[in-house]
Amino acid sequence: MVSAPVTLSPAHLAPAPAAAIAPARATEAARVEISLRKVGVAYSAGKEGTKTVLANIDLEIPAGEFVVLLGETGCGKSTLLRLMLGQEFPTSGEVIVDGKPVKRIDSRTGYVPQKYSLFPDRTVLENVMYGPENARAGLLGRLTPSFWRFRRELREEAIQSLTRMGLRPQDMKKYPYQLSGGMQQRVAIAQALLMKPPVLLLDEAFSALDPSTRSSLQELLHSIWAESRPTVVFVTHNTTEALLLGTTLIVLGRHRDEEPEKSNVLVAQQLPTAQLPFAQRCNSAEFREQHEFLERVAFASSSRYRTQPPAQEGCHA
Ligand SMILES: Nc1ncnc2c1ncn2[C@@H]1O[C@H](COP(=O)(O)OP(=O)(O)O)[C@@H](O)[C@H]1O
Ligand SMILES: [Mg+2]
Repeated sequence: MVSAPVTLSPAHLAPAPAAAIAPARATEAARVEISLRKVGVAYSAGKEGTKTVLANIDLEIPAGEFVVLLGETGCGKSTLLRLMLGQEFPTSGEVIVDGKPVKRIDSRTGYVPQKYSLFPDRTVLENVMYGPENARAGLLGRLTPSFWRFRRELREEAIQSLTRMGLRPQDMKKYPYQLSGGMQQRVAIAQALLMKPPVLLLDEAFSALDPSTRSSLQELLHSIWAESRPTVVFVTHNTTEALLLGTTLIVLGRHRDEEPEKSNVLVAQQLPTAQLPFAQRCNSAEFREQHEFLERVAFASSSRYRTQPPAQEGCHA
């Protein structure tokens, strides 16, 4: 275990040992929320046999961590998230969430996919309530008084969650076509937060947003995380956003057939920026140092990686 924040340096590009991530709060018991043990994923590639996407992934993510997951396009970030969600299963190894091997999608896990789609014929509020309602009861089960009690409470919670994400009562009655992209993303996050999930997985959740919406959602997500401390895994291509939000950084690299046993995990460690108050992170020396390292070293090999200018005044992720 690493007990103090570590400064990123090229040396850290070596695959990190499984236990390299220390809990965000030193005083908190290190209850491991998400573990990946020797995880590999290979897809069938027709006549060519199989294509390995992930190999030898060993990660231990303690409860309450805000993990930012970076890596070039196609290296397997979304696949890794789907494994944690239980939407997909590894070809080898094990994924364990809250002490149990992941066998199916846990309705308590919040998930915001890269491309979120709302039911076009349901209002915002109906969209947000749809998942938990369905998980609770089928058609017949809906005839019982207990279901209606559940539904009333769920409705209250859905309204609270949407309000928290900045939606007004009149917005909740709208249909998806009446919402901007930023508003739809707020709905997606409200839905993911509805069941107060202990684990929250977000896949490039903010990438399609304009800078000011993005920045307000970053602040909101940070405050929600700081309040209830779910374990978050947040995929982003944006290094500024990663350093602003994360307590732990994981960088994946693309699997190469020439090195079949090599883990995709290039970097897995705590971020020193997480020790600073949120509002001060962007203008800190730690931020500039980490930012430069990520831009210059970690992604130097990836021409597809979108680089951003270093933050000057505040964060313009
Ligand atoms: N269901 C699938 N079948 C075959 N190949 C897949 C499947 N899902 C993902 N892949 C491949 O796995 C690789 C990693 O994909 P993905 O996890 O989406 O990467 P990232 O999110 O880092 O961009 C890509 O080459 C992609 O084409
Ligand atoms: Mg992806």
